[in-house]
Amino acid sequence: MYELEDKSVQLIVTSPPYFNVKNYEVENIGSIDSYSLYLKSLRQIFQECYRVLADGRYICVNVSDVISNKKKYPIPAHCISILQRCGFKYIDDIIWKKPSGRKSGKCSGAAKRFGLLIQHPYPMYYYPNVVYEHILVFRKDDFDFKSVTLAKKEKSKIDIRYAKLHWSTNVWEMMPETRKGHPAMFPEALPRALIELYSFRDDTVLDPFLGSGTTTKAAYDLGRNSVGYEINNGYLEAIKKKVNFSKEPDSFKIINRKRGETCEL
Ligand SMILES: C[S@@+](CC[C@H](N)C(=O)[O-])C[C@H]1O[C@@H](n2cnc3c(N)ncnc32)[C@H](O)[C@@H]1O
Repeated sequence: MYELEDKSVQLIVTSPPYFNVKNYEVENIGSIDSYSLYLKSLRQIFQECYRVLADGRYICVNVSDVISNKKKYPIPAHCISILQRCGFKYIDDIIWKKPSGRKSGKCSGAAKRFGLLIQHPYPMYYYPNVVYEHILVFRKDDFDFKSVTLAKKEKSKIDIRYAKLHWSTNVWEMMPETRKGHPAMFPEALPRALIELYSFRDDTVLDPFLGSGTTTKAAYDLGRNSVGYEINNGYLEAIKKKVNFSKEPDSFKIINRKRGETCEL
């Protein structure tokens, strides 16, 4: 992310491509067949995240196990270890629980595994339906609370009644995103919560795997700046639609790296 200076963003919220599962149409980290190479690529990106994140600030990574060719890959467990090796401090593992019976975005067929026991009601046929994903929360060093003025804190005050209802435990219930535009979007409620809880107004939020632009949309709505990287140019229209680009084009800058130019679109 050579466009970004060291320690220049105050929060990272992201969901990396799933290993060998989703078709994002262009060659990318998710289309790598080798699991170890997939993890190696994630490591390179998380290392770069460490460089651009300001001291004391958070990175939140939404991941889940992936089932591919009948094999289950413990991506959250490996991500925890990779993030630690990059230098981040492990803070929390928040579970995003989806209503039962909902299709799990990352594991095809994962919401139907229990069906095997119904077909064969005997021992050894038990595979539970998958109804959760992880939100791994890490921090770069310790945060200096004195570095933020009271005025800035007040401008970013959290509605504690809402927080008590939705965020008092490390299990958050949220509906998955079902709209079209991208094969693997997270619901807007996910980045929204993380941005409210882990950044201040006017901070800059980075998503290195922007997809349809959900993180940027949430950041914009919450009075934060945002930077996103997306390898598939085909998602640009979805991003522009989501962030309401046509209404305020001057608020956005789109850099097409292939062409090496800044497009004022
Ligand atoms: C799980 S999706 C993110 C979806 C996003 N959270 C949303 O709500 O729309 C992962 C995205 O990472 C993109 N991607 C994969 N490899 C990438 C890379 N090396 N650099 C930037 N984006 C990449 C994929 O094209 C895909 O859109």
